[in-house]
Amino acid sequence: MTDASPADRPTTTCRACGRTVVGFLDLGRQPLSDHFLTGAETAGEYFFHLSVGACQGCTMVQLMAEVPRERMFREDYPYYSSGSSVMQKHFTDTARELLDGEATGPDPFVVEIGCNDGVLLRTVHEAGVRHLGFEPSGKVADVARSKGLRVRGDFFEEGTAREIRASDGPADVIFAANTICHIPYLDSIFGGVDALLGEDGVFVFEDPYLGDILAKTSFDQIYDEHFFLFSARAVQTLAARFGFELVDVRRLPVHGGEVRYTIARAGRRAPSSRVAELIAEEEVTGVATMARLERFAADVRAVREDLVALLTRLKADGKRVVGYGATAKSATVTNFCGIGPELVSWVTDTTPAKQGRLTPGTHIPVRPAGELTADYALLFAWNHADEIMAKEQAFRRAGGKWILYVPRVHVRD
Ligand code: SAM
Ligand code: TMP
Repeated sequence: MTDASPADRPTTTCRACGRTVVGFLDLGRQPLSDHFLTGAETAGEYFFHLSVGACQGCTMVQLMAEVPRERMFREDYPYYSSGSSVMQKHFTDTARELLDGEATGPDPFVVEIGCNDGVLLRTVHEAGVRHLGFEPSGKVADVARSKGLRVRGDFFEEGTAREIRASDGPADVIFAANTICHIPYLDSIFGGVDALLGEDGVFVFEDPYLGDILAKTSFDQIYDEHFFLFSARAVQTLAARFGFELVDVRRLPVHGGEVRYTIARAGRRAPSSRVAELIAEEEVTGVATMARLERFAADVRAVREDLVALLTRLKADGKRVVGYGATAKSATVTNFCGIGPELVSWVTDTTPAKQGRLTPGTHIPVRPAGELTADYALLFAWNHADEIMAKEQAFRRAGGKWILYVPRVHVRD
């Protein structure tokens, strides 16, 4: 085990407002969720302590230790956004909405933070609209470039944003999906947005929603890359701290439940009624209260008990259990529950960069998609359940059963 560097030491200082964070769930020693290893790499594997807490000032739910960004977003970062046809459609539709609703001036400029393999910007480019993606992870950025997209291979932060403002002028839209919640250094992000965004532009980002995570006990949304679990109230407070305003929210069904936040410079747009409505709903459900978060932590421990009991019983009965989808999320589940190759023989995944390697921390072999020969498949990619079950009907017909652990442990046959 490699020692944690000083940056990964637990802290109780809120990364959104500087006040005190109180922990409510300890998920223990965890690896880098997207670091799929060769056999030779297992000896020096990096681990950190994954615990999550809530700020007693601004209510922001966040990790209590930060993994240095260069460890996660590397040349060989293996997450390719276009791997799901449902997500491809989602981002094509999102791009069209942004083009029709926001990028409407004579020469609009759209910037994306974390453009990955170009799943969203591709539509912007095809519409002939000026664009730039920031993407520090080398290989996924190259895939985007191969689609003709303009990509800067750097982290978006205040310094890089200022350079683009100087060379390209103001942006009409700054968009990010499943990226802002990955970034602890929010001062620099909002400094960059302030520098680059036009006076009437919008900063739009979508990320997993705390309300859905609590309702579904989807604790696997908590891992090194997911530093923040956003709620509307915490994002509203955050935006105001930097001279911005939360002007719209939209619930999204993707990735198990997300919210798209639209942020404008303070006073430039009237907030939609949806903002107040979602915040009122959060008050009723007590989303970021310690009582609700501690109840969630108890639910998480119950899921662990049930899942380990089920897998142990199936093993004793001589059943063959495999995993489906070597997701980053599954690192939290397998490491927290102590699920290794003795309980789940292998995991299938369509991503070539993960195949032939071992899952982080628990070292379960990852195999290419092929015939699913098993009695049970544990669906780690539960957020893509409809897409996956539709294409794996032969598994079900042959008597195979799905194991799900969201919102609770159950078998679907
Ligand atoms: N937007 C895509 C999607 O929703 O599928 C990709 C999401 S992926 C989980 C997060 C991406 O953000 C990675 O490709 C990572 O390299 C990138 N990233 C992380 N920090 C970043 C930063 N400060 N600026 C730009 N990109 C960043
Ligand atoms: P995600 O839940 O973070 O989007 O990751 C999904 C993972 O599951 C990713 O590694 C690709 C994989 N996958 C499959 O193996 N088969 C599929 O049909 C889909 C949609 C995803």
